[in-house]
Amino acid sequence: MKIKMLTGDITRVEAGAVVLGLFEEDKKLWGDLARAEKALEGAVSRLIKSGQISGKRGRMTALSSLGKLPAEWVIVAGLGKKKELSQDAIRGLAAEVGRLLSKKAVKKVAVGLLGAAEAGIDATAAVQAITEGALLGTYTFRKHKTKKEDDAEIKELIIVAEDGLPVLKKAARRGEIIARAAILARDLVNEPANFMTPGHMADTAAKLAEDHDLDLELLEKDKMQEMGMGGLLGVSQGSYQPPKFIILRYKGKKSGGVDLALLGKGITFDSGGISLKPSTKMEEMKTDMAGGGAVLAAMSAIAQLKPAINVIAMVPAAENLPSGGALKPGDVITAITGKTIEIISTDAEGRLILADALGYAAKSGVKNIVDVATLTGAVRIALGSVCTGAFGNDQKLVDAVVAAGASGGERIWPMPMYEEYGEQNKSDVADIQNVGGRLAGAITAAKFLGEFVGDVPWVHLDIGGTGTADKDSGQLVKGATGVPVATLVNLALGMAAGSRR
Ligand code: BES
Ligand code: ZN
Ligand code: ZN
Repeated sequence: MKIKMLTGDITRVEAGAVVLGLFEEDKKLWGDLARAEKALEGAVSRLIKSGQISGKRGRMTALSSLGKLPAEWVIVAGLGKKKELSQDAIRGLAAEVGRLLSKKAVKKVAVGLLGAAEAGIDATAAVQAITEGALLGTYTFRKHKTKKEDDAEIKELIIVAEDGLPVLKKAARRGEIIARAAILARDLVNEPANFMTPGHMADTAAKLAEDHDLDLELLEKDKMQEMGMGGLLGVSQGSYQPPKFIILRYKGKKSGGVDLALLGKGITFDSGGISLKPSTKMEEMKTDMAGGGAVLAAMSAIAQLKPAINVIAMVPAAENLPSGGALKPGDVITAITGKTIEIISTDAEGRLILADALGYAAKSGVKNIVDVATLTGAVRIALGSVCTGAFGNDQKLVDAVVAAGASGGERIWPMPMYEEYGEQNKSDVADIQNVGGRLAGAITAAKFLGEFVGDVPWVHLDIGGTGTADKDSGQLVKGATGVPVATLVNLALGMAAGSRR
């Protein structure tokens, strides 16, 4: 889909369909819809009166223009109540419209700003949200289908505003870069684990480095041994696939250290290892590298948007499988910081590989750390798939991450980190154990991670519930969500704008 920004009268645009908004409480037609109404000789009002068209949020009505407008179809999109319209709602509406029109095989779509001005929403925010919604909402993963479905793709989206073209073009560009990064993350996560191995993740990072002028450093097994990455080595030892520790660097300013480290769990398949998972839905565990995928994808967007900060990404990547050489419950391993860990469950592997990444990042003197992981099923029990859980040791950074999420349409909820939760991770034989019992599983997992960051401001995002979606809704489609790419990119942009460095 190509995105174009235009100013002028949308009813004059030649397209397969023009999309115009209608509020639930609208008694009189306004703006573009009023103009279209004139050309359609009063049809819209009549259909509203007879109840065929409604402004309820998400209600879409398609009217044939019968040759009275240059566009073939007029889509009246229900915007809901004016005071309830938000940037998020606009993003969701653009996604729903996109899905509807791709099913109708419409190739070229013109859309207005969906009530933004009337509801007091900034035009740039609306343009960015429409771009993101349309791209994300029409996403499909068809790589492994042999039947091609070219027909179902919208080729061109024209966003039509009244004026202010230069700033709106910038907003559309920002939206497109962020959405395409989230789409990249989705592609990586949806990819089956026989393709998406740790080696393939490393190749993907190498390609991103080349395309976007990032620095790549790849640590292989011998280097991991030298550095004492006992967590990553331990988890990978049951698999034929060699582990990779992937590092990407973005330099947005000449001097100073690394402002932000983005770390992502890169378990390309989580069978549970010797603590084998039940086979039902085990196929979903190909998505256990969603944190790593999001971090790599976010770096590609950061490299294009060029905020004036320095960012490093680290993705420990491995496959968690059982074998004669696999890690066993009761084993003790030593992480990069020298801390010893008793393995209670080999299925609590994410925290083991992240211990090494967090320890490495903290040791290398970065100023802020955000890690992203499909770390626990427990976060799903706590928060469902509605929001991501945030855990941290620094309220300011937690607040910045939550705010970055809010502006990108990604909900994040802060979770408590009381000392007492940490006690559940105490081991009889080692410094710490990798399971903290049944209660508060997402928090004890976060507490475990917190043992490896020292005093560095750190936030952990558990996307165990939000990394994948089980149905289409708004900008999300069934499968990988690309969460929290927008959050990470917005955080970097916000830091560069001076809110935190
Ligand atoms: N990758 C899983 C967590 C997960 C499960 C994410 C389902 C998304 C959907 C993680 O490695 C895991 O298995 N965690 C265990 C931890 C337990 C053994 C302490 C869990 O949550 O059951
Ligand atoms: Zn696991
Ligand atoms: Zn896992």
